[in-house]
Amino acid sequence: MKKVVITKLDNKGRGICFVNNKITFVPKTLPLDEVEIELFKESKKYNEAVVTKFVSVSDKRVEPVCPYYNLCDGCHLMHMSYEDTLNFKKEKVKSLLYKYAHLDKEVEISFASSLNYRNKITLKIVNKKIGYYKGKSHDLVEIKECLLAKSVINEVISYLDLLNISNGEVVVRTNKDKEILLSIKTKDDVKDKEIVNEFKNIRGIVLNDKTIYGNNNLLMSINETKYQVSYNSFFQVNNEVVELIISYLEELIPNISKALDLYCGVGTIGLALSHKIKELYGVEVVKNAIYNAKENAFLNNVNNAKYICGRVEDVLDKLPKYFDLIIIDPPRSGLDKKTREFLLREEAKYLIYISCEPISLARDLNILKEKYDPLNIKAFDMFPYTEHVECVCVMRLR
Ligand SMILES: C[S@@+](CC[C@H](N)C(=O)[O-])C[C@H]1O[C@@H](n2cnc3c(N)ncnc32)[C@H](O)[C@@H]1O
Repeated sequence: MKKVVITKLDNKGRGICFVNNKITFVPKTLPLDEVEIELFKESKKYNEAVVTKFVSVSDKRVEPVCPYYNLCDGCHLMHMSYEDTLNFKKEKVKSLLYKYAHLDKEVEISFASSLNYRNKITLKIVNKKIGYYKGKSHDLVEIKECLLAKSVINEVISYLDLLNISNGEVVVRTNKDKEILLSIKTKDDVKDKEIVNEFKNIRGIVLNDKTIYGNNNLLMSINETKYQVSYNSFFQVNNEVVELIISYLEELIPNISKALDLYCGVGTIGLALSHKIKELYGVEVVKNAIYNAKENAFLNNVNNAKYICGRVEDVLDKLPKYFDLIIIDPPRSGLDKKTREFLLREEAKYLIYISCEPISLARDLNILKEKYDPLNIKAFDMFPYTEHVECVCVMRLR
C-alpha cells in the first residue's frame, strides 16, 4: 500500500503518479487526488495500480451517475463532469497531433447526448448472469442496465433470460424505430418463442450466424439516408454524432466528380454525401457489409456507386484512377504502408480521414502531410464518458 498524489492524466484519462521514480497509472483518479494505491502490474517501464482508499479528493471529482461505475470498466471518465471530459478529449487530440504529426492546431469538439446514445452493446452471459466483462478480464459485472445504451436496449435486458442461455454472448442492436436485433453466440439450446411474444420490438434473432427468427438486419438512418445493416456489419454506434459529422462534411467539401470510400462498411459516409458525388466507389472487407452497401445505394436511389469486397491493401491496384475525393475510415490501427503510399501516389484533390484513434490518425497525417495540407481537424464526442474520441480531418492536395 502506497500513499501518492496524482499529478496529471494520461491519454487514456488515467491518473499519473510516481512510485520509486517509475511512472504509475491509476484509473479513475484526477490530478490533486491523494490516494492509497495497490500495484497490480509492474513492468520495466511503468506500473499500473488501483485505488484502495481516497485520502483526499480533487474538487473536480463528481459522483458517477452509473451505479456500476466502480465495478465496470466500460466507462473511464464518469468521475469527471461531462464538460471536463470534453476538455480532456480536446486537449488529448491537440497534444497527440502535436506529438506525432507536429501539427500545432486548436481542436474544437462537437457533442450530442452524453447518456443513452449507444445503438449497440455486447453483453456476456456467465452462469445465467448477464453483464459486461470487467476490463480485459473474464470476470462478469452483472448489470440491469447500461446508461450509455439507448433506453429500448435497457428494456430488453430484463427479457434476455427467456432465451435460456447459460453461457455465451448477446449483441443487442436498435434503430430509431426502437426495433431490436439480437445476435447470439452460444452452445446452449436457445429458446426464441417466449422473448418474441413478450417483447414486441424484436425484429430478428441470429444464433451462431443463422437467423432463427425474423430478419438478420436492421434499417438504420443517418439524416435522410437509410441503411440496411446486417447483424455482423459495422455501423457507427452513435447516430446523433454521425449526423453532426455528415453535416460538418457537407459544408466543407465541394461537388465531387469521382470519390472513393475506403473501409466503407455499409456505405455510410459515401452514401450520406452522395448528393455531392457523381461517381462513387467503396471498398470493405466484410461480405455482408458490401451486400448491404449495394442494397443501400439502391435504397437511396444512388445509381452511380460501385462496391468492391476485399481488404483495402489488396484491391488498391484494381481500382480506377484519378479520384477527386478519398474518404478513409479505417479501424483503430489506422492505415498500412501500402494504403498510405497509394494515397500519396493518387494525389486526390481532397482526403477525408475519419478516425476513432487519434494516435494512429496523427501518425498517418505525419506521412500524408508530405502532399496534403490538413485544412480542418475536428473532434466529435462519439463515445461520451469513455476515453475514446472520434476525429475528422479534411485535407487538400497542396
Ligand atoms: C471504423 S469502420 C468504418 C465503416 C464505415 N465507414 C462507417 O462509417 O460505417 C471500419 C470498417 O473497415 C472494415 N475493415 C477493417 N479492416 C479492413 C481492411 N483491411 N480492408 C477493408 N475493410 C476493412 C471493417 O469491417 C469496418 O467496416
